Amino acid sequence: MSAKLTVLIVDGNRTNLALMDMLVRKLPNCTTLLQSDPAALLASIGRTDYDIAVFARHLPQIDGIELARRVKLQPHLRDRPILLAADDGDSALRASAQQAGIAAVLLKPIDPVEFRTRIQALTRGPTGPASPAGEPGWDDAGAAAPEQQAREAEYLATLVRVAGYRDRESPLHSQRMARYCAILAHNLGMSEQFCRDIRQAAPLHDIGKAGLSDALLRKPGLLSPEERRDMEEHTRIGHAMLKGARSPVFRMAADIALTHHERWDGSGYPQRLRGEAIPLVGRIAAVADVFDALTSVKAYKTAWSIANAFSYLHDNAGEQFDPACVAAFESGREEITEVMRTMTDGDDGTADAA
Ligand SMILES: [Fe+2]
Ligand SMILES: [Fe+2]
Repeated sequence: MSAKLTVLIVDGNRTNLALMDMLVRKLPNCTTLLQSDPAALLASIGRTDYDIAVFARHLPQIDGIELARRVKLQPHLRDRPILLAADDGDSALRASAQQAGIAAVLLKPIDPVEFRTRIQALTRGPTGPASPAGEPGWDDAGAAAPEQQAREAEYLATLVRVAGYRDRESPLHSQRMARYCAILAHNLGMSEQFCRDIRQAAPLHDIGKAGLSDALLRKPGLLSPEERRDMEEHTRIGHAMLKGARSPVFRMAADIALTHHERWDGSGYPQRLRGEAIPLVGRIAAVADVFDALTSVKAYKTAWSIANAFSYLHDNAGEQFDPACVAAFESGREEITEVMRTMTDGDDGTADAA
């Protein structure tokens, strides 16, 4: 069993401190270090260690952003992620937080689901178990050299084209869906690297369909229960196709392929995972995939209006979808509408423009 991850929480308000302490302790393999006095923390900072920190924006005598700057001057803490809990998250605040090296801004009052999602994303990453500080996590995906990242992007784009030859979906479906994933991830406060990776990885979510028979893929009308089970296998097949790669973005694509049909309430497939047991990337992809399916023309239905599709997501938050992901998607409505406007299918569902 790996060592416990320590989450340092600094907040002058003891109620907030107790709430965040309780939320972190509910996570597997996490413990807390609590501090209500930032001056006391700075006085002992050379002897303090943690894996992740959460600082309140307003603290006695010091601002949370300034505290982050000072803490990051310590060589042993420079690379430890810090979250900022703030009363508002306007762009000026987010810019100063980013400059101070803060990983994400969380809005107060703390939403328990969002808080746990962020902490888990930092501790576990999109794949695999928690990794103590110093071992690679999702943020270390950025360590790949630019040439290597460019090569990976080419490989991924080639795979998307190969998969597109067999998939009957419009080629724009996976591209729009991937952009929605990136907008959602950004609004969840995920790093630039994570948002770039999910945009490249998400178009492969249905690559496993390439392993299904033509008869099944091209069957018009409704599928029998047995055919439906065979169709559901595209998740495991896609995962098997991608899982052997060492690159973080390919591993992310493998996770998305496996889990994009899981449901928050545990009634999805193929593993019937529930809640946060579903990797974050799968929860994000589920929202983006369904939204694009609803707003697109299919052989069996017309396109839903944007308003109706957003209502569907909202009504199914907490059942089909992660509520934090739905909230993050809703806050990106303007950008999402713009993606829909610039990447439209023809009336028959075929690609109209890139
Ligand atoms: Fe799928
Ligand atoms: Fe899809």
